[in-house]
Amino acid sequence: MSMLVVQQAAKRFGGIAALDGCDLEVREGEIAGLIGPNGSGKTTLFNMMTGYGRLDSGTVTFRDSAISRSSPRKVFGLGIGRTFQLTRIFPRLTVLENVHIGARRRGLIASVRHWKAGREHQRALESLDFVGLTRLRDARAGSLSYGQRKLLEFASVLAAQPSLILLDEPAGGVNPTMIELMAAKIRQLNQNGTTFLVVEHNMSFVMDLCHRVTVLHRGKTISHGEPTFVRRDPAVLEAYLGD
Ligand SMILES: Nc1ncnc2c1ncn2[C@@H]1O[C@H](COP(=O)(O)OP(=O)(O)O)[C@@H](O)[C@H]1O
Ligand SMILES: [Mg+2]
Repeated sequence: MSMLVVQQAAKRFGGIAALDGCDLEVREGEIAGLIGPNGSGKTTLFNMMTGYGRLDSGTVTFRDSAISRSSPRKVFGLGIGRTFQLTRIFPRLTVLENVHIGARRRGLIASVRHWKAGREHQRALESLDFVGLTRLRDARAGSLSYGQRKLLEFASVLAAQPSLILLDEPAGGVNPTMIELMAAKIRQLNQNGTTFLVVEHNMSFVMDLCHRVTVLHRGKTISHGEPTFVRRDPAVLEAYLGD
């Protein structure tokens, strides 16, 4: 069953057509992949799906609600969590405080004062433990390595228990051990019912992890299907070789 559907999405930035009639479907319970050469519109599509910008035309539907004009907060409230290609953490807060903010489903730093009491605190601790950062819980987030920041951002998203998680290059710049850990965590959450849409340049990561893959090129969907199909699709090979 369809969970998230994008139809004929278009978005221009001045003279650049970042999205130029792209289509995407994520089904309930799957790990979907979104790939394409640099500049093909993947991050723009994530932004348009999560309230960080408005499409010029086209629609985004999540479980039958139109969300293409919703705010980031509304989208988050519906159960869609996301990470950013360049991580967005609060460097001066501790690791645990960062996750706690995620657990509240809103970015209110003030809420940290009241954190210890609630269920959110429990979820924050569980998420940190899940990604293996418990021993760094009191360190400042700004002191973490690049890979650890990616894990921290992942933990913050998890803490809100979204039903759909969008990951923008979770493995980018992360060492191979951490990449394997990330893949294992994604699989484990997926087995417990969380749906994923993953943007990633690391092809073996995408092809091993994802059930179905959609390929963007110059803002258009040029291929979609199972990894074995997509990796042999001449249109995909051409797009990557051409760019
Ligand atoms: N805010 C913006 N202003 C101007 N151009 C943008 C903006 N965001 C993205 N673009 C352009 O849109 C195209 C798609 O970018 P992006 O979605 O980041 O691609 P990808 O994530 O696939 O690498 C690129 O040409 C990029 O330069
Ligand atoms: Mg991008």
